[in-house]
Amino acid sequence: MSRYELQTIHPESEFLENAWYVVAQSAQISRELQPLTILGDNLVFYRDSNDKIVALEDACPHRKMPLSMGKLVGDAVQCGYHGLTFDACGKCINAPTQDKIPSNAFVRSYPTVEKYNLIWIWMGQPELADESALLDLADFDDDDWGLTDGGMLECQCHYLYLLDNLLDPSHVAWVHQTSFASDGTEDVPLVIEDTETGVLVSRWIKNIDPPPYYAEMLPFSGKVDRLQYYEAVVPSIAVNMSTYARAGFGGDSDNLPEDSYRMRSYHFITPIDAHSTRYHWFQHYNTNTKDEAVRHKLNEGARGAFEEDRVILEAVDSGMNDKKRANLDLQLDIGSRKFRKKLNALIKAEKGKAIC
Ligand code: FES
Ligand SMILES: [Fe+2]
Repeated sequence: MSRYELQTIHPESEFLENAWYVVAQSAQISRELQPLTILGDNLVFYRDSNDKIVALEDACPHRKMPLSMGKLVGDAVQCGYHGLTFDACGKCINAPTQDKIPSNAFVRSYPTVEKYNLIWIWMGQPELADESALLDLADFDDDDWGLTDGGMLECQCHYLYLLDNLLDPSHVAWVHQTSFASDGTEDVPLVIEDTETGVLVSRWIKNIDPPPYYAEMLPFSGKVDRLQYYEAVVPSIAVNMSTYARAGFGGDSDNLPEDSYRMRSYHFITPIDAHSTRYHWFQHYNTNTKDEAVRHKLNEGARGAFEEDRVILEAVDSGMNDKKRANLDLQLDIGSRKFRKKLNALIKAEKGKAIC
């Protein structure tokens, strides 16, 4: 055991429920019934006539027929088997085959919020849902910043492998050689810090050639100082900031030259279940913000890189589920170990029981 007391990581199969998770991009939920599984629960989503997002348990209380196979009647959902109909709060408002509506004819409804062009859901106790607990995205409403369309990947892996990866700046040297890798990504020491809501892993890499993905977008040429900033926020959001300053001017993120390049990459990781994950992202940046070609290039570059991650993480999930001998941890895992510990403590407190 090293001085860091590294231990094997075991992905948990339980989830933090009293938290906001991203369900979809805003445009993906309409007046059509849309089934989606979140934290192992089957839900149906739609917009009511006021454009408000509705999320209901996707199982009719009669024979558990998915309500998503029924139809919308006004702002209510009608089961496609015998017509039980539920309003946006999950209350049965029509039972065609009955003299009166059974008192236990209801489905669960879930609080939702639409913000940052995303739809968020609260899977825990509805009375604890607090919109102010949503992650605050700095400068999001500032038109001087550029915003990519973002995207979504479904990954056949446990969601914590994605968080591990997003707290691991080292992997870019091997996984993203044609995009994010640069000198120093394999060996410059990491600074690992606890934050109020998670963990931050970062490092300045000084006096290097910029990596291919960023080289053309920087507002200056020549060598650079590069900040890799990898922050994970409970339950499962990651913020990666890439900052580039002219060589010799990096090191103090709050006092950089005007022409420094800043890119914030937001990653919203939502467990579908213990084996698969929905991964949404977008990027926010301060240079060439009105240039459509740059915006497109950034988005497609990110998608390509995240596809590289997906292939690796699905193979990791498979390897870890099928391991014949214990795996080991490296120093680069310290950030993710800290994050898992923090998340596990919250899950444990929420469930009121030990998680092994
Ligand atoms: S299964 Fe829905 S009404 Fe019978
Ligand atoms: Fe990656």
